[in-house]
Amino acid sequence: MSNTLFRTKNVEQSIQDTEEPEHALRKSLSALDLTVFGVGVIIGTGIFVLTGTAAKNTAGPAVSLSFVVAGVVCALAALCYAEFASTVPVAGSAYTFSYASLGEFPAWIIGWDLVLELALGTAVVAVGWSGYIHSLLDNAGWHLPAALSGRDAASGFGFDILAALLVLVLTAILVLGMKLSARVTSVVVAVKVAVVLVVIIAGAFFIHSGNYEPFVPKAQPVPAGGNLKAPLIQLMFGWAPSNFGVMGIFTAASVVFFAFIGFDVVATAAEETRNPQRDVPRGIIGSLIICTALYVAVSIVVTGMQKYSSLSVDAPLADAFKATGHPWFAGLISFGAAVGLTTVCMILLLGQARVFFAMSRDGLLPRFFSHTHPRFRTPYRPTILLGVVIAVVAGFTSLSELAELVNIGTLFAFIVVAISVVILRRTRPDLPRAFRTPLVPVVPILSVLASLWLMLNLPAETWLRFAIWMAIGFVVYFFYGRTHSRLALRESTAPTRTPGTDAGTP
Ligand code: ALA
Repeated sequence: MSNTLFRTKNVEQSIQDTEEPEHALRKSLSALDLTVFGVGVIIGTGIFVLTGTAAKNTAGPAVSLSFVVAGVVCALAALCYAEFASTVPVAGSAYTFSYASLGEFPAWIIGWDLVLELALGTAVVAVGWSGYIHSLLDNAGWHLPAALSGRDAASGFGFDILAALLVLVLTAILVLGMKLSARVTSVVVAVKVAVVLVVIIAGAFFIHSGNYEPFVPKAQPVPAGGNLKAPLIQLMFGWAPSNFGVMGIFTAASVVFFAFIGFDVVATAAEETRNPQRDVPRGIIGSLIICTALYVAVSIVVTGMQKYSSLSVDAPLADAFKATGHPWFAGLISFGAAVGLTTVCMILLLGQARVFFAMSRDGLLPRFFSHTHPRFRTPYRPTILLGVVIAVVAGFTSLSELAELVNIGTLFAFIVVAISVVILRRTRPDLPRAFRTPLVPVVPILSVLASLWLMLNLPAETWLRFAIWMAIGFVVYFFYGRTHSRLALRESTAPTRTPGTDAGTP
């Protein structure tokens, strides 16, 4: 049994699978396309919405340090991701990488976990997008009926029709093909980056240094009864749950981490890249560096423009300009945010269809989903299925709790990838690696510890939800994936091969 759980797909086999015509994706992306994809998906709800929540509730002006902490965690993970992506250039990201190194069961776990990250991430961003559109409609004096404006906090009812429509339209674009989506993405990314630069440059003129006092607000106890909402680390060590203070910087880092999600999605497009060995590492690391610099600058400016305790939680960047008497800038920023969130949604949707596609190509999910479209060569079946499911989730869901669940799933994926780098160096030292993670095993170990630290700073209830999702995944694997796996079928037709040793036998 343990042999089948840890059977690995050999790396050459993974690459060969992608070359079968009816399962092949078109190779059309360059390093620049990937960087644009990266920046397109990374800058989004995290900086446009969560900056305000994190500064107001947990970190104060020190939220800029939270972005640095989250950026360092991501940089360590990026160094590991880049080695994997340049060694195993096939669709599926951390899922595929771990299938080639750790084995089928860990790969299933990570794939299942990535579907959660990307699907819920898409829903979170769609809801954030709809919020900005509502605010623009309000400015113009137009209002949608309350029942179609999203879930009402008081009654718990309502359907966010705008969020759902956005997901459905983007699904259609993705089914039509990468080329179209890459072109649309570049224009939208340019608008988004321009708006972020406007916030930094224009906002710098409205900073009041008094707003930075205190830079790290004193720790404050959390009201009684909020225990499950407290970071797990505080409960583990029996500390009284608190916000702000030095620990608040880490709590906020585990929330604003959402702002960095997406650089790993660049790796999911490796198979569609013309020269993955060279271009994927460039795309991942380039987009991460650009975004970290922008985030730190934006958070310093915004917390300098308005007292952290007065920041808005819905549209903090735009509202900081309103608070300083510049509503024209606020309108421009809202417009740019709404445009920018569109690409974030689209790329998350793209990434998750690719993971689902890769899992189905391996037989861990029904093979029905791994046929590409005869004309567009896109994985249209999982794209349509997941697009419809996410549209419904986005219509009925509110934003904040989901973002934390997405974060824990992503951090977990980082840990598996870092461990896989070390394992694959031992089991397959012969593989050509266009990009090598520096200082192995020090960097992967630091990456595991840093990701774990952020996970521990997430609320206990987020850990519970994550455990439930993973438990469902175990059931699906043991009742479907394990017996339908393509690797299992290959092994049963090739009895002389010893299961579990593929990684060591090139
Ligand atoms: N990083 C992306 C965002 O902040 C997911 O919306």
